[in-house]
Amino acid sequence: MSTNKKKLVVIGNGMAGISTVEQILKLTTNFDITVFGSEPHPNYNRIMLSYVLDGSKTMDDIVLNDLNWYSEHGIKLHTGTTVTHIDEASREVVAENGQRVPYDQIIIATGSKPFILPIPGSDKEGVIGFRDIEDCNQMLEAAKNYKKAAVIGGGLLGLEAAKGLVHLGMDVTVVHLMEDLMERQLDSTAAAMLRAELERQGIKFAMGVQTTELIGEERVQGLKFKDGTVLEADFVVMAVGIKPNIAVAAASGIETNRGIIVDDFMQTSMLNVYSVGECNEHRGVCYGLVAPLFEQGMILAKHICNVDTAGYEGSVVSTKLKISGVDVFSTGEFIDGPEHVVIAQKDEWKRTYKKILLKNNVMVGAVLFGDITESANLQKLIKQRTEMTDELYAQLMGTGCCGGGAEKKSSSVDTMADDEIVCGCNGVTKKAIVDVINDQGLTTVDEIKACTGATRSCGGCKPVVEQILQYVLGDGFKKTAKQGICGCTTLSRDEIVAEIKSKGLTTTKEIMHVLDWNQKEGCSKCRPALNYYLGMINPDSHVDEKESRFVNERMNANIQKDGTYTVVPRMYGGVTTPEDLKKIADVSLKYDVKAVKVTGGQRLDLIGVKKEDLPKVWEELDMPSGYAYAKSLRTVKTCVGSQFCRFGTQDSMGMGALLERKFERLDFPAKFKMAVNGCPRNCAESCTKDIGIVGNDGGWEIFIGGNGGIKARLADSLCKVKTDEELIEICGAMMQYYRETGNYLERTSEWVERLGLEQIRAVVVEDEANRKALMERIEFALEQVEDPWKKVLNDEKTQRALFNQLDPALLQK
Ligand SMILES: Cc1cc2nc3c(=O)[nH]c(=O)nc-3n(C[C@H](O)[C@H](O)[C@H](O)COP(=O)(O)OP(=O)(O)OC[C@H]3O[C@@H](n4cnc5c(N)ncnc54)[C@H](O)[C@@H]3O)c2cc1C
Ligand code: HEM
Ligand code: SF4
Repeated sequence: MSTNKKKLVVIGNGMAGISTVEQILKLTTNFDITVFGSEPHPNYNRIMLSYVLDGSKTMDDIVLNDLNWYSEHGIKLHTGTTVTHIDEASREVVAENGQRVPYDQIIIATGSKPFILPIPGSDKEGVIGFRDIEDCNQMLEAAKNYKKAAVIGGGLLGLEAAKGLVHLGMDVTVVHLMEDLMERQLDSTAAAMLRAELERQGIKFAMGVQTTELIGEERVQGLKFKDGTVLEADFVVMAVGIKPNIAVAAASGIETNRGIIVDDFMQTSMLNVYSVGECNEHRGVCYGLVAPLFEQGMILAKHICNVDTAGYEGSVVSTKLKISGVDVFSTGEFIDGPEHVVIAQKDEWKRTYKKILLKNNVMVGAVLFGDITESANLQKLIKQRTEMTDELYAQLMGTGCCGGGAEKKSSSVDTMADDEIVCGCNGVTKKAIVDVINDQGLTTVDEIKACTGATRSCGGCKPVVEQILQYVLGDGFKKTAKQGICGCTTLSRDEIVAEIKSKGLTTTKEIMHVLDWNQKEGCSKCRPALNYYLGMINPDSHVDEKESRFVNERMNANIQKDGTYTVVPRMYGGVTTPEDLKKIADVSLKYDVKAVKVTGGQRLDLIGVKKEDLPKVWEELDMPSGYAYAKSLRTVKTCVGSQFCRFGTQDSMGMGALLERKFERLDFPAKFKMAVNGCPRNCAESCTKDIGIVGNDGGWEIFIGGNGGIKARLADSLCKVKTDEELIEICGAMMQYYRETGNYLERTSEWVERLGLEQIRAVVVEDEANRKALMERIEFALEQVEDPWKKVLNDEKTQRALFNQLDPALLQK
């Protein structure tokens, strides 16, 4: 069927080409689009190849546009098909398989090729570049069969390849011609700090050496340097640079230099032919990062769709190394010369470094190492060619005698244009972020990541996204402090949770490995925390790691100072029956329990049970575990309430028992206590509970964040509700929100202070859709839980491991 649509052919199925197509599709459907790609894959996130290499992502994870996307948008995709040239006379694009496709307009987006050193032996088996999925597969394969790797090139790509190969178990040496690593982004001071950090992470370095030959038979066996010395290596990655892929353009008679020459609207020298991405050269510059190509793509899309746009003026690029535990940032000019005024601060103890360069008092470049929280702000100031003032100096460098941080940082977000790209890797603009915050009520960077993709790739834009969040939410924004959860990592709880989700991590060991824990086995602080986060994120698939739990949780009982244990059976709402009381009495007598105590939470505590008797006591009681040992719902304390009490207006006993049955057994960040009262006289003391519920004439009032322990805190009133259904839903939503955002071991009294009552109210009370979503998630998690005592009784192996013996009754079964 013939159409009136214009025929657009895109040569190159990579990040620049497809992101331009995405922009075009936002503006018009008036193109009949055909895409050619040499690789046999749909468009994927090339940046993330480094993560595929270190095992934290799979190939599937990094696909940006799957095959459905192409068909949904009516795009004809020819994968594994290389275009040879454009036939301008017949207005056709010609592929190497002979295929000819007519065009009205063409976008050349053929990217770059890795630069392979023209030295003897560079064509030997075992020598590769690092550019695509195929290279990545070769590295993964090589690591299985070979031990010694050399990476030639100490730039961003080389270092990421080296770290990936170290992860894969290879002995890796980075060979670099210069004395400084990343010399195109860092000055000597930052480069030396970087090298020291990477050495700590297991990478070796041969600096200031020139490779003249790769030696070996068919397969490479080593590198020969200019001074005659040899480095043994049975696998070599060349990461010495890229060269724009101009083959199609050159073969078609289009003007090229290093790259394909384009004007400010990405127009090449051939009519109706444009070029975007790493393959082009704009005002003498060829870029090797994604941010510029997204900027180019937006302009090209508008231009091609006849939407008014200013031309492209070039980009100020910035760099971030994607190796965890290594925070490096540089933008603009970074090597100081006589024309510069240098502002620098180095802290060898904290291993941080900050340098800002001024030219004629204007900020022209910066380098950060160790702490890159200022990166977004600096990038902005440098891009805007901001003049240094006393006030700005005080903000950036601190005025205190210890060089402390700025008192108050001005936000650069308000001066940012709406269409300014914030996340270069995923092409997300400021407006897109502001819109999702406003329209969907998002409150965290993680939610923005899930919604827009911003921060998803290299993570360099996280500080700007945080600033935008702060700017839009105003006082409602609370920044989570950047602090490692323990000495084993510098990652915060939020970062770990985000990594677990984005990288699909499933065990504590895997987290420690992939996220570069500096202590291989972790510590008693992080192990239980990670086990909790894993279970919270994947309630259905997480296999609980008993060994990561505290002793009481491993044993499902509280150990006492004489080595015996306590057993607290569940008594929903603090109500028992004569039959249960009789059983408790019989078991207590039979197993010589030392004391039976009524607890502060209205339960009965059998104190002094011998370890080996625990399984038998549980079995004979035949009651559910009361979880008195766990970071879980402990007790719901109730008063007498309307069933019996003269003052009672609500059925507190009934509601208490119902809530306890509904929400028991779930893991929480810390222990969780509740109370339900039949009237405001509050006999069951709601004010010191994580959730305290008080009946009134019209319904219930819900209080949260109370604590009666060392750091006592009176609970805050969250809201009033009219119906039991609303009460249950808000309790469930609040519990799930706490489960999802609480730091491990953080009680709700601290959590409420940290997040702010208003924020919690907005999420679990006012936003009904969100409340229901939280409730759905907690219901799903609840479906997965089972009674731990019964579980042990039904599991010989665990019983033997925990108690060193089996229940004799079980042996007879
Ligand atoms: C491991 C790695 C890590 C990186 N990390 C970062 C980072 O952290 N930050 C950052 O900003 N950038 C990073 N980059 C660079 C970034 O990936 C590139 O800037 C970006 O992919 C360039 O996009 P492009 O579309 O111009 O080229 P490409 O993504 O290379 O796409 C070009 C596509 O065109 C195809 N093609 C070429 N010739 C033809 C032809 N004749 N016919 C048909 N198809 C053809 C190629 O096969 C390729 O698939 C990284 C790159 C790598 C390899
Ligand atoms: C303000 C006036 C109060 C009145 C009129 C009042 C009234 C009552 C009544 C009538 C009962 C008995 C229920 C029953 O067993 O039949 C009761 C129980 C109780 N009251 Fe109060 N009360 C008041 C305040 C308090 C306060 C301030 C506390 C402590 C914080 C408290 C703690 C208790 C306790 C612990 C019980 C036993 C509840 C249980 O476990 O069943 N009362 N109260
Ligand atoms: S809180 Fe009210 S209903 Fe409950 S026992 Fe006390 S007086 Fe009775």
